Formats: sequence, structure tokens, C-alpha cells
Amino acid sequence: MIIVAGSSHPILAKAIANKLTIPFIQADVRRFEDQELCIQVTGELYERDVVIVQSTCKPANDHLMELLLLIDTAKRAGARRIITIIPYFGYARQDRPSTRYSPLSASLVATLIESAGVHRVLTLDLHSKQTEGFFKVGVQNLSPLYLFQDLFPNAREKGYMVVSPDVGGLLRAKALSAIIDTDLAVVNKTRTAPGECEMSEVIGTISGKKCILIDDIIDSGGTLTKAAALLVEKGAKSVTACVTHAVMSRNCKDLVEKSPIDTFYITNSIHHDHLPKNCQCLPIEGLFVNALKRFLKE
Ligand code: R5P
Repeated sequence: MIIVAGSSHPILAKAIANKLTIPFIQADVRRFEDQELCIQVTGELYERDVVIVQSTCKPANDHLMELLLLIDTAKRAGARRIITIIPYFGYARQDRPSTRYSPLSASLVATLIESAGVHRVLTLDLHSKQTEGFFKVGVQNLSPLYLFQDLFPNAREKGYMVVSPDVGGLLRAKALSAIIDTDLAVVNKTRTAPGECEMSEVIGTISGKKCILIDDIIDSGGTLTKAAALLVEKGAKSVTACVTHAVMSRNCKDLVEKSPIDTFYITNSIHHDHLPKNCQCLPIEGLFVNALKRFLKE
């Protein structure tokens, strides 16, 4: 087995290779004048299990195209099996047509990845489970709850409860509340425009509780920080947040630092050089290492 890193997250790719003590290659990614990508992988891939590590985060289209070209490179080099680790799967939020004439983007992205020649897809906390169904090859959608649950031992006795910032995230929140044995609440959120939302109501009793807000993505930061402010307004004792994918666009870091969130836990599915002061990043390499070990035993 060999790890090939795209340009989106070589640090994570290297960490996975180190933990498995297998070789690591950083792909050479160049551009023509018109921004067309030109990829080269220097190393022997013939008859090897090739693991390509690439988050399709910002710039999402470039990173996606790079991933497709890397899969094609491995296929043409005679790889035995091609496994992609896509820690953050861009386009997963577009898992249903938003209007009668809009595309099913997550499905198209899955088809592109599959058509390029992948044998197995490993990913983390997809926005919704239906994206797994857009693939015909095996998909392992790893859960971040194994990381988050350890942060809250004896949660009920300590006065914690889990809150979803919207109805769409209720299953994720329900799963965490079941694992750490707490009550559950949900915020009634309305999306007014991309990156804009309104919320005024919490369904569930949160007064005097230490609330754990859980979500898959923080992008503009509007959802999480508005939900945190609402919880405090409705009497929550404290707010901690657990978010898998820190997209963190616009002034998100500022919003998080100025919010009532005491600790903001994220994972390293997307690389950032600078994080908000109240942020702690949990490493996901162990999850992928275990998944690869299981794959090798199949
Ligand atoms: C939406 O359904 C997702 O689960 C997140 O809540 C959303 O992507 C967060 O976006 P933002 O940070 O821009 O509010």
C-alpha cells in the first residue's frame, strides 16, 4: 500500500502514512497559463493498493479535478486497487435538487469519482447518508462521534445536553446524545439565503443546561454562532460546539471568537493555518488508519 497526497491536505496524508509505516508520495501539481491542472506522481504504483488523500475543500473545483486526475494516474500506472480518502467531501450539501431545474450535484460528483476508476471511498461525516447511495462502489462514511464522545465523560451528571442547530442535523445530534446519555433539543432554523439564516425557537428544555451544539459543517459560521447566542438567551448555562468540517469562510473565525461558545471542537478534515482562539482541533488520522487496516483484511 502507498499513500499519494493531493495538494489539499498533505499533512494529514503524511500522518496516515506514518501511522501505517507505508510509503508516501506528494503529487506534483502544476498549472498551465489558463489554470488547467497538470499532475505528476513520481513513484511506483504498479500492482500496489494506492490510497489517494484529498479533501475537496476550497477551492473545491480545483481539488475535485485534482482528485479525478490522481485516480486516473493511479489507474493508468497499473494500481491494484485505488482507495480515495476524502476527509471533507465538497458538494455533499447539494444532495437534493433545490429547485425543479437544479442539478443533483452530490450525485454527479460521486459519478465522476467512480468513473475515474476508484474501488473504495473512505470519507467522514457526509452531510447526509444519501450521498453514500450515489456510489456503486463501497463507501465507508466514518463517524466523528468516536472523537466527540470522549470529550464528555459522565455528561448527564455534569448537566450536559446535546442540541442540533437545525432539523437537518437531528440524527447526528440524536446519535451523540444516545452515546453520551443526555437529553436532546433542536433549534428551529430557517435558511433565508445561502450563508444567511434566522432562528428564534428552541424545541426542548435547555434552561440551566450545558449545551453541546453539534453540526457537520461550519461555513459562514452563521448557523452555529446564532444558535449559541439563542441558547444563552433562552437560559443555557454554557455552550460548547463540536463540528466535523471547518470550512470557515468569510469572517467565520471572528464570529466564533466573539460568540458565547466556550470551546469549539473541530477535526482536521480541512487544513487551517490559523484557528479561532477558542478552537481545539481533534485529529482524524486514527479513524482512517483503522478503516484502511480493516480494508486490507477484507
Ligand atoms: C447545513 O445544513 C449544515 O449542516 C450546516 O449547518 C451549514 O452548512 C452551516 O453553514 P453556515 O456556517 O454557513 O451557517
